[in-house]
Amino acid sequence: MEPLKVHKQKLKILVTGGAGYIGSHTVVELAKAGFEPVIVDDFSNSHPYVLQGIEKIIGYEPITYHMNCRNLDDLDQIAKEHDDIKGLVHFAAYKLVGESVKEPIKYYENNLDSNISVTKFCLKNGIRSVVFSSSCTVYGLPDKLPVSEAAPLKEAESPYGRTKQIGEYFFEDCIKALHPLNVISLRYFNPIGADPSSEIGELPIGIPNNLVPYITQTGAGLRELLTVFGDDYSTPDGTCVRDYIHVSDLAQAHIAALSKLLSDQSTEPKIEYFNIGTGRGYSVLEIIRAFEKVSGKSLPHVIGPRRKGDVPMIYADPSKALKDLGWRAEYNIEEALSHAWKWEQRLPELNLKQTG
Ligand code: UD1
Repeated sequence: MEPLKVHKQKLKILVTGGAGYIGSHTVVELAKAGFEPVIVDDFSNSHPYVLQGIEKIIGYEPITYHMNCRNLDDLDQIAKEHDDIKGLVHFAAYKLVGESVKEPIKYYENNLDSNISVTKFCLKNGIRSVVFSSSCTVYGLPDKLPVSEAAPLKEAESPYGRTKQIGEYFFEDCIKALHPLNVISLRYFNPIGADPSSEIGELPIGIPNNLVPYITQTGAGLRELLTVFGDDYSTPDGTCVRDYIHVSDLAQAHIAALSKLLSDQSTEPKIEYFNIGTGRGYSVLEIIRAFEKVSGKSLPHVIGPRRKGDVPMIYADPSKALKDLGWRAEYNIEEALSHAWKWEQRLPELNLKQTG
């Protein structure tokens, strides 16, 4: 593939967790938008193949540091080698809801420590523009749907959710202390799918926790059948409803956020919050039907008990992102599922099939 046109002056953006699922898709969109992504990732939850996949799409291997962003000395090393980093997109965090319930220390330690280190790094190096990877989980059980950014943060359903809430409060307190930061916190709904090229996608380690990778692995015959976690919720068909968003759309939201931050001439510290979702909720059964339609396969499934900590229904009011960032989701659910399915089917060829 021809390398993409290189902009005369590419702005460098540090991307922690840039080899992860959302991180890698964002690295691709950053490069396509003319930025120069610099990845820092400890590869604890990502596969080295991702870098090749990114290269196949953007035409060059992104600058990558195999490091843990909690280590300030390592970050200092990056600053020495790149004194022209203009922004930070901070993904690096653990994200498994169930695991966080069992291992809260691991989650608090990693997710909160990394916020502190990257913030110190930004302050030390005069980097103002920060995009923080947050989640709709900060809303807990919302009173009103669709949920807007004005909704109060209710009690989080898991330690993972709490670390995202604390992350937002942490940045808010830094802003109150007049630390020179301009932060946008993106509250993601449920990312699914893969880059349309099928060169990168989600690579869950072991048995997937999330719905769509479990579905695609079941479709591929790696799992016997999907268990639907409860059909007795007070939702239209009794199964939980979520706002599933294509990961490339989600990646684009980071470009919109960064562009807003980098063009902001004001020096006043601030933080803003944006929901990044489609505005449309789908039930688990609707997702199964949509997958069956795009794959042409029937998906074996059974109804099981509810999963602890699941919110019955949540979907976004994404109107603020459209108004202030000029961003909205472009892919529909069938496109997202078909990209997820295409990616799943490429894994054997890439030798990346995970059967744990
Ligand atoms: C949760 C978090 C989200 C976080 C994500 C990361 C909330 C509201 N959302 O998403 O912020 O980024 O985890 O892991 O806390 N399901 C089944 N069978 C399965 C798997 C899932 O029926 O085998 C159902 C679940 O009950 C849920 C839906 O599918 O209703 C989506 O589940 P999942 O993909 O795990 O995402 P969330 O739990 O919504």
